[in-house]
Amino acid sequence: MMIIVICRVMIGVLDMIWWNPKRIQSVLSKQGIRGPKTSFLYGNVKQIQQMEMIIKSSASSSSSSSSDGQPAVSHHQWLRSSFPYLQEWSRLYGRTYMFSTGTKQHLYVNQPELIKELKQHKSLDLGKPSYLSKARRPILGNGVIKANGHHWALQKKLIAPHFFPLQVKGMVGLMEECTTTMIRTWEQRLAEESQGGVAEFMVDQDLKDLSIDIISRAFFGSSYYLGKTICKKLRAMEETLAKPSLLFGLPYLGFLPTQGRRKTWRLEKEVEALILNVVKGRQEDAGKYSKDLLQMILERASTDIELQQDKHKMERFMVDTCTNIHFAGYETIVSSASWTLMLLALHPEWQQRVRSEIIETCGDHIPSMSLDWDKLSQFKNLGNAILESLRLYAPSAVIAREAFADIKLDGGDSNGNNFVVPKGVHIWSFVPLLHRDTENWGPDANEFNPERFRDYQAKAVVGEHEAARRHVAQSDEAVSELRTSDDPQAEPLRSIGSMNSRVGTGETGF
Ligand code: HEM
Repeated sequence: MMIIVICRVMIGVLDMIWWNPKRIQSVLSKQGIRGPKTSFLYGNVKQIQQMEMIIKSSASSSSSSSSDGQPAVSHHQWLRSSFPYLQEWSRLYGRTYMFSTGTKQHLYVNQPELIKELKQHKSLDLGKPSYLSKARRPILGNGVIKANGHHWALQKKLIAPHFFPLQVKGMVGLMEECTTTMIRTWEQRLAEESQGGVAEFMVDQDLKDLSIDIISRAFFGSSYYLGKTICKKLRAMEETLAKPSLLFGLPYLGFLPTQGRRKTWRLEKEVEALILNVVKGRQEDAGKYSKDLLQMILERASTDIELQQDKHKMERFMVDTCTNIHFAGYETIVSSASWTLMLLALHPEWQQRVRSEIIETCGDHIPSMSLDWDKLSQFKNLGNAILESLRLYAPSAVIAREAFADIKLDGGDSNGNNFVVPKGVHIWSFVPLLHRDTENWGPDANEFNPERFRDYQAKAVVGEHEAARRHVAQSDEAVSELRTSDDPQAEPLRSIGSMNSRVGTGETGF
């Protein structure tokens, strides 16, 4: 008996570390997919680590200062430093290739059509990678961003209707209110600090505060201050969890009580208690509260039979929804708003165009602006500048999926033929490479040229924006939130400190 058990365990282990990786690699290579040579147990982990080390040391040794002694703004430095191995293997093996991180086999794809297909794949056989979910569990739980199958569908059904365009339109007023407050502080500072009408602001912290402000008001409404505390704690958790590597697929040592992890666990408990406290208050006296997002989602969830029958499931849903919306909405907006302002500052001719169209529609005094959806949609230059900034500096760098069964992708190989992705394969795409591909975007792919979106602003940016639109129509909220944060009066901003894009966290808000 004992011998049978031992044999079974040994066969299981061998299957995991040897036969299964070899089988997957062989299925892919028979379909013409190449990739770097793998080694037993480690796959390509050593090459990945080596390339990350080289990039790290070259980044720390290169002192990139411009002639005036200011830190130089490099458009491309960050691209080189994020996931260098994906870029190097792309160069060597083409748009589709395979690699391995030991027991996990990966397929990299970089064709727009294929990515579109991945995004539009309806079957639940394709989902978010389970190991990423584990690594991000403290912050995302099993919320809509990480969930798969039935659990994802249930959450999507309850959340998505609150992000339809009509609902987002209703939030423009509060976005404008929060943004106007921030702009007034800038004006005040400009009046106090400027020399010759020009002052230097580090706007990224202000944009972070603005994003928290908007999310807290939209989501928590009358529980705004509590909402703000929750958002700040979530921020602290995100910072302790951010790790720019695909290697968190390696045997995960998340149980070790390191200092950082103890902090995360403590914050996790605090956030959960705070959210449940707000939810409980609202369940006891619903009439007292305004119809903010939390209230509407709670009311909708209370009518769901599955959640009604299980108090724990209901609580989990509410906690995960708060954390997921915060995670998805916060940094995407901060990063895109920061980059849009930065790029406009670097291209004064575009800043002027944007300013003129806003003044034309709204007048040149903030109190008279009073934005609404129709006015926002008239800002074509601003819309194009935002799309161009999302293209160049996509806030979510990686698109990732896991095949839970063998799946067929149309036109996947180099000849446009169908190919089969075996069960267990993790599929990746690196959005910045896709967005700067000269074959798709033309020879000026690395340049800021919002003009390229003139004829098809309504169409989404390949990958990124399309995904955002498809999933929760959230790009409507995103773009309107970004549009409200562009100030027609601000002087050209000369520098923006510590740009903090989400690139490199391996997260996409997906
Ligand atoms: C510039 C702003 C934004 C960008 C570029 C962006 C991008 C994305 C992308 C690429 C995905 C899907 C990834 C995938 O399919 O794998 C996604 C999903 C998601 N986003 Fe955003 N997003 C933005 C803003 C927001 C905002 C403001 C919210 C909510 C307040 C939000 C909520 C979500 C949610 C809930 C999902 C998961 C949907 C699902 O899995 O069904 N996003 N986002």
